[in-house]
Amino acid sequence: MASSAAGCVVIVGSGVIGRSWAMLFASGGFQVKLYDIEQQQIRNALENIRKEMKLLEQAGALKGSLSAEEQLSLISGCPNIQEAVEGAMHIQECVPEDLELKKKIFAQLDSIVDDRVILSSSTSCLMPSKLFVGLVHVKQCIVAHPVNPPYYIPLVELVPHPETAPTTVDRTHALMKKIGQCPMRVQKEVAGFVLNRLQYAIISEAWRLVEEGIVSPSDLDLVMSEGLGMRYAFIGPLETMHLNAEGMLSYCDRYSEGMKHVLKTFGPIPEFSRATAEKVNQDMCVKVPDDPEHLAARRQWRDECLMRLAKLKSQVQPQ
Ligand code: NAI
Repeated sequence: MASSAAGCVVIVGSGVIGRSWAMLFASGGFQVKLYDIEQQQIRNALENIRKEMKLLEQAGALKGSLSAEEQLSLISGCPNIQEAVEGAMHIQECVPEDLELKKKIFAQLDSIVDDRVILSSSTSCLMPSKLFVGLVHVKQCIVAHPVNPPYYIPLVELVPHPETAPTTVDRTHALMKKIGQCPMRVQKEVAGFVLNRLQYAIISEAWRLVEEGIVSPSDLDLVMSEGLGMRYAFIGPLETMHLNAEGMLSYCDRYSEGMKHVLKTFGPIPEFSRATAEKVNQDMCVKVPDDPEHLAARRQWRDECLMRLAKLKSQVQPQ
């Protein structure tokens, strides 16, 4: 394994998200040590990363300026967590979404790390105040929540614990930029952070519209894929408002009463009943049957689309 001037990053948990982080950090020239409680998971991860990187290189979609072989030489497995974290600048935890398990891992890390390393969690919805409670190194702790698949979707939500040091947020922000991700700061922790709050608001209304028989499940999806989603890949909902009138103030003058009128008709939180789930599933299965082969093929198609979109965005939005 090559050593790296950029520094060393440790991934704790070599599953779906851990592997993606490993590839991203290697693309930025960082040395990466993969740790997992299951030795076989580390072996699988290394094999899987090798295959992925070769395919990406062939497709001209490998991130960073190093070749696949150069990036692969930066990644190694490490069966011992204490050895793995020695000299690390950043530790990215990627174990399953279980508060007690993650707390155990962070308590273990807390007892063996120095005062400089960043302790970062990939959690999708656990609150930093619960996750990092009582840790000696709490100032160095942060949530860095990626979006699946992180190699193609660059957003990372940075969520601090109330006692996280501002330098921890700044350093993590800079690190994410360095590996080509797009970090954003959540100023105060909130259930679901920001991405999932927006996502759940959309899912909630989608479910109500389908349940009330206003639209079929597949037509509902078209509204996003052929409508709102087209612009949301480039501009957010607030900039959309700004552009759809003569600026935000003009948009609010013109449309806020209309928006409030519609918003008042929104229903309660859906129950996500079995009956509606079956109806939606039936419609989804016409295009993508819910067996592992069809689902995997569709995911691969989605990732290819995202890869092309990322290329397009880098051409139209030089960073
Ligand atoms: P996964 O189940 O694919 O991988 C978890 C890995 O952790 C496994 O390899 C497992 O062997 C390992 N592990 C379990 N206990 C361990 C321990 N005590 N020490 C070290 N390793 C241990 O899970 P996945 O999907 O990669 O999720 C990881 C985290 O990322 C979760 O917190 C999840 O919420 C978050 N996340 C997941 C996303 C997704 O779509 N999969 C998206 C964004 C965040």
